[in-house]
Formats: sequence, C-alpha cells, structure tokens
Amino acid sequence: TDDDTFSNAFCENSEKLIDVHLFALAARYYSLSNLGVCTPLEDVLEALRGDNQGKTGIKTDEFMNNKKSHEVQVMSELVHNIANYCGIKQVIDIGSGKGYLSSFLSMQYNLKVYGIDSSNTNTNGAHERNRKLKKHWRAYQSRARANTESQRLEKANDRQSEINCKAINEKLLKNPSSLQRQDQVPSQDLFPSCGVTEIAMSETGKQTEVDLMARTQSDESKLAEEVLAILNVLPADAVEVFSSSQCNRGELCEEEKAQRKRASLKAKASKSSESNLYFPLTSCITAETELSDIITDLEDCMMVGLHTCGDLAANTLRIFTAKPEIKAVCSVGCCYHLLSEQFENQEDCPEEVWGFPMCQYLKDTGWCCGRNARMSACLALERVAVGQTLPTESLFYRAVLQVIIEEIYGVTKSDRHVGKTFAKSSSFVDYVRRSLKKLELDDSKLPDSCIMDYYEKYKHRMNELEAFNMLKVVLAPCIEVLILLDRLCYLKEQDNIAWSGLVKLFDPVKSPRCYAVIALKK
Ligand SMILES: C[S@@+](CC[C@H](N)C(=O)[O-])C[C@H]1O[C@@H](n2cnc3c(N)ncnc32)[C@H](O)[C@@H]1O
Repeated sequence: TDDDTFSNAFCENSEKLIDVHLFALAARYYSLSNLGVCTPLEDVLEALRGDNQGKTGIKTDEFMNNKKSHEVQVMSELVHNIANYCGIKQVIDIGSGKGYLSSFLSMQYNLKVYGIDSSNTNTNGAHERNRKLKKHWRAYQSRARANTESQRLEKANDRQSEINCKAINEKLLKNPSSLQRQDQVPSQDLFPSCGVTEIAMSETGKQTEVDLMARTQSDESKLAEEVLAILNVLPADAVEVFSSSQCNRGELCEEEKAQRKRASLKAKASKSSESNLYFPLTSCITAETELSDIITDLEDCMMVGLHTCGDLAANTLRIFTAKPEIKAVCSVGCCYHLLSEQFENQEDCPEEVWGFPMCQYLKDTGWCCGRNARMSACLALERVAVGQTLPTESLFYRAVLQVIIEEIYGVTKSDRHVGKTFAKSSSFVDYVRRSLKKLELDDSKLPDSCIMDYYEKYKHRMNELEAFNMLKVVLAPCIEVLILLDRLCYLKEQDNIAWSGLVKLFDPVKSPRCYAVIALKK
C-alpha cells in the first residue's frame, strides 16, 4: 500500500528519517490538492448561479495587489452567491475584525451583515472605519451615478448603439423566456434546493438584467474598482478626506454638471445603501453562543468567517449545525496552533467542547495532533516554494531559549507564551530577557555572558534548524488536511446538512490559509 511504501522514508529500528525525497513525495501525496477531496470554486459558483448566469462583472485580476483585497473579493462573491441561492439577505460574520469582509458584503452586495468580534478595539475600529466609509460611499455613489448617466447620454447620441439597444429590447420583448431562463437555477447534483422561491430569484435576476443593460462592462469594472479601492484600501485610521474636486477631473460641460447634480440629489435621497453598512458587535463566540441573544432581529441567515482562528472555526460549524435559522456556512480557519485538543493531555472530558477533533470518527480513535504539529500546519509551503524564506533566525532564537529555560530553570511546560518577541528585540540577550519576563521567570541572576554562551554554543547548528524547519514546511499541508477533513467529516456526520465541501478560495501565495469549509442546510 501507499503507507507501506512511504514508511520506507524512516529507518525501521531508529525511526529516523532516511529518505528525504520519499518523505516529500508522501507529504505531497497526502496534501489536499492531491487527494481530490476539494470541490473547485468554479464548480461551486456555477452550481449556485446556474449555468446561464454570468459573473458579477468584477474583474479579479485588477485588484490583487494585496492579501486582504484578494480574500475579500473572492470570498464575498462566493458568499453573495450562496446567499442568493438560499434566498437569504442576512449574513453573520464571525470574528469580523475591522470588518473588511463585512463592509464589502453589505455595500457591494447589499447584504445585511452583522460582524461579531471578541475584541472591543476591533469593534471600535470597525465603527470608525464605517463612519469614514459612509462619507466616501456617498461621494462614490453620486460620482458613480453621474458617470453612468453621462455615459448613457453619450450613448444616446450614438445612433448605432441606439439601434443595437432597440434590437436587443425587441428580441427580449418577443421572447421573454430568454430572460426567464437566466433567472432559473437548474437543479444540480452539487446542491439541492435550499428553499429559494422562484419569485425571489426572478426579481433579483430581473434587477440584475436591468442593471446590466444600464451599464457597459467597462463601467462595471470601473465601479467595482472604486468600491474596492474605498473598502479595502481604506484602513480604520485613514485620514484623507474625499474632496469633491476629486470627482471633477477636467472641465465638465453644463449638461454633465446638471446631470451630476441630479444624480447627487438622488443618491442623497436614497438612504438605502448608507443604512446598509454592516453592524459591528462585540461578543466572544463559543459553541454555546445563542446568536439571537446578540442579534435581536436574527432571521434566516448564513454564517461566514474569514480567518477565524483556533476553536472559533470549529465553534462556527457547531453553531451552524445546531441552529435551524442558519441556512449556510462558509468558514476559512487559521491559527491551528490555538486549537484546543481533546486528547492532548490524556484528559477525558467528553462533555467539554474541543476544537479538535470534531468528528466522531477521529474521536473514536482518540486522535491527537499535538501543539508542534499544529504549529507546523500554520506554515506556508507555497510561499516557501516561491522563494520566500523561513524566519530562521527567530526560530533559532526560540530554540536556544528553550534550551535555556529547560537547563537553567528546569521548566519544560508553561501555560504562558513568548509570542511575537523577536520583532521587538534588539539582540539575542534582549530577546531572552523579554521572553523570560513573559514566561514569568526571574532573569535577574542570569548574566548576559551566560545567555551569549548558549548562543555561541548552538550558532553553528542554525543550518540544521533550517533543514528541520524545511521538513516541517513540507509536512504542513498534511496536518492541515487532517484538521480540515475533521471539520468536513463532522459536517458529513450531521443529518441536517444537504451539501458540504472543502473549497480552495485563495491563491495560497497571497493567502496561505486558503481553504473554506462550506455547507448548506437541507
Ligand atoms: C485572524 S482575525 C480575522 C479578522 C477578519 N475576519 C479579517 O479577515 O480581517 C480573527 C478575529 O477573530 C476574533 N476572535 C477570536 N476569537 C473570537 C471569539 N471567540 N469570538 C469572537 N471573535 C473572536 C479576533 O479578535 C480577530 O479579530
């Protein structure tokens, strides 16, 4: 079997690694991309939209200049399609942070979004960002409408386009079913019906059709570009003010000015988009959280989570399966090292809710990853593969620190964490002292020379450490597979789920934690 072949990578007696190439092959074999357990994003989108419906008009390649923009753009399009498919308007963004995904979903896709984050600082940041977005959004809206209107006027002067437009309208009038067909979601094997009413879909579809006829494709991508620029680039502490002079590039003719004024008044009159900004809330989500206690107007909705760390991803799935009003979930987890593990400390508390394992299948085998393996699962193989280097020096600092705390303090385990001390440290001595303080160990009797002796003693082994970490990076996808398949398996074990799957959403070089767990209720 494959397992037998790959076991030759290790010496039978010493259990040491003897065949690095075979080890790498085994790791690749057990990666998500090779196991064939993922559903391609295109297939999911196609099944949700139906065969005939086109893309939303957003050109992704224009906006991939930063990680968050990429994530928000891809995920929001998927969430929008799931919400449409399920006929829901409410989205709960779990671990919403400063609300990048939430605000995009509400403003670009007109969804009613509640963002819940345990950090008050994040909620305050999100409120502040919301306040600024409102201001920008108003300016953006009036500009967008004015642009669309002036382009429409230009087109009205173009006789040829008038004829074309008439021809299209006549065709549609003669054959209304051509429009109808676009609205229908064909029954697919991938997703069963999720309670979508024909009328709801039909209304949305018609509105989309009208919108599409009103705008050209280039309008679409220009508008989307502007929305993204506003929503994704604007940080919470942005100070620039969108001045009206920025709207008026070049001289405008009187007619255009009048059009813009009318469009601006219209935009002000229509409060809908402004009031559609999402609502940031502070709450610490656990498996037992009752969303209706936090959200008073909770209705049929879906849960989303963009990089929900540790147990939060697991608990999102638990809440989803437990609550009938939550019709769908789309969760991208991260920070696997923060997962709580049921079988890590030989504790047997079956009543307690753990981050791993979730599924009965792994629970029955008492499966445990351990912190080291979970730490490895957080590494980014694809980034290393394209030449981004490992943080060898900080890993070396941490490794030597471990020797110091074991040999000098006799400590092998601690509930405290060193955290991101490396970046704040000016030298190895400084790093060790800062870390010891965090670990609540007395460093007053530890001379600098002693700390440096440890550094010198192990300095020549930095290459070994780098090689070791390379092996960990190679293994990372296999551990991530285990954690993600556990979540998927948990969903498959529930009997109220109609469809569940793993979908690779992001380019892993841009965003290493790129897999979404998606599920739809029966
Ligand atoms: C990695 S950040 C992602 C933030 C945001 N979704 C984004 O993509 O920008 C994870 C967020 O989850 C929040 N969080 C962690 N545990 C949580 C919990 N139990 N309940 C609610 N929020 C939590 C953190 O405060 C943090 O803002």
